[in-house]
Amino acid sequence: MALAQPVLTKRIPTPPFGNMADRKTVSYEQFVASDGYKGLHRALSMTPKEVVDLVKASELRGRGGAGFPAGLKWSFLPPEDGKRRFLAVNADESEPGTFKDRMLIDFDPHVLLEGIAICMHACRLDTAYIYIRGEYHHQREVLEHALKEAYEHKIFGDGSMLGKINELSPNCYIHRGAGAYICGEETGLLESLEGKRGWPRIKPPFPAVAGAFGRPTIINNVETLAMVGPIVLNGADWFKGMGKGRAEGVPASVPASFGPKLFGISGHVNRPGVYEENLGIKMSELIERLGGGMRNGKKFKAAVPGGISMGVLSTDQYDAELDFDIGKKYACLGLGTAGVIVMDEETDMVAVARNVARFFSHESCGQCTPCREGSSWIYKVLSRIERGDGTTRDLDMLLELSGSMGAMPGTTICGLADGTNWAVRTIVNKFWGEFESRVKKERYVSLAVAGTR
Ligand SMILES: Cc1cc2nc3c(=O)[nH]c(=O)nc-3n(C[C@H](O)[C@H](O)[C@H](O)COP(=O)(O)O)c2cc1C
Ligand code: SF4
Repeated sequence: MALAQPVLTKRIPTPPFGNMADRKTVSYEQFVASDGYKGLHRALSMTPKEVVDLVKASELRGRGGAGFPAGLKWSFLPPEDGKRRFLAVNADESEPGTFKDRMLIDFDPHVLLEGIAICMHACRLDTAYIYIRGEYHHQREVLEHALKEAYEHKIFGDGSMLGKINELSPNCYIHRGAGAYICGEETGLLESLEGKRGWPRIKPPFPAVAGAFGRPTIINNVETLAMVGPIVLNGADWFKGMGKGRAEGVPASVPASFGPKLFGISGHVNRPGVYEENLGIKMSELIERLGGGMRNGKKFKAAVPGGISMGVLSTDQYDAELDFDIGKKYACLGLGTAGVIVMDEETDMVAVARNVARFFSHESCGQCTPCREGSSWIYKVLSRIERGDGTTRDLDMLLELSGSMGAMPGTTICGLADGTNWAVRTIVNKFWGEFESRVKKERYVSLAVAGTR
């Protein structure tokens, strides 16, 4: 069922609820006049634990890629020791195909600031850093202006309502990244925030225990935090009335896909953009009803479900349901950021794989050998295949190289390698015929033939 009312896009005109041409940045006054900061007021009338419990009860899952339950993350903080505790807001948004956080910041920055203030109250944090992608110049200016308004209206700073309640002097700062994908990985972000090279850290310890400057730190995505105000205002059951619940018989301990979600659509569609819909919407519906259908009347061939690191969906997976279970059901890594990249029948999948590999090879920070060497070899092999100089042995090497790298096989520090692994393997496996027809046959039994790919 389609989303009945917009939630995060309630002030951002977006089809089918509004006309994109009417978009303007929402000021503090306009935000307050449309129920803005009411969630913060409600949160401040509750104890921090009550707020954490409410967010836990809503089962809000992180919107930055991994889908980790937000309330659970907030409950991991150690007891207070009188020293500083931080919030790092992940506005790095560098995943190819992902531009949803940018839209929120562009047009409704206070919805993010409200979520930040609620999180600071709930988790008893004194300082928030919004780590924003280096290329987001305009968005930084919008945020700076909104932050100024928030300080003037005593949302943050000395004597603010937040400070009066939790006896801290809560501050919020904007920190600009320098344009590296790896700084979106949460511990790479922390290193960069501390002024160092953005190299991901080995975990544990996790940031909730030892994060920025060695102190407990909560890290959340922009969209995750933006959803907190509406949840506190309207309650957990309201949120769970949207999206996709659990199938019958699935225990409550298994996280579900509740709530609305921002979906990006780019690529070969008539109306690319960011749309808000229930989690669980079919990709075909997203493309046809919201994205305006396939461009130039071409046929659908493939799509990235949510940022390129999630891999691809094949032609026969057009009706895939976009929820947090997508990985298990459709042989991809997961929903990721729900930034869907659509490809039509004329797309050369070998070129797509080569392009993707080039991105990961370029963005690998180089700390782990399988990621640093693997991604650059994958790129070289794919370039060779694209040129027509590859062999069946190259295809096997590709699958072997990619399949053996990643934090999940346990060979690397962070998920960038998993992204390379899944993106390359799913493209090669799901479009095997296209790759096979481009290589010279060798007298060699390929992994594909041996059935191990
Ligand atoms: C290579 C890499 C890049 C990432 N980039 C981003 C990003 O740009 N924005 C983001 O919110 N999360 C990104 N993440 C996920 C973060 O590490 C982290 O899970 C997220 O910010 C947590 O917020 P959430 O729980 O609210 O989703 C990235 C992860 C990896 C491995
Ligand atoms: S997996 Fe890649 S990007 Fe991540 S820490 Fe290792 S080398 Fe760096």
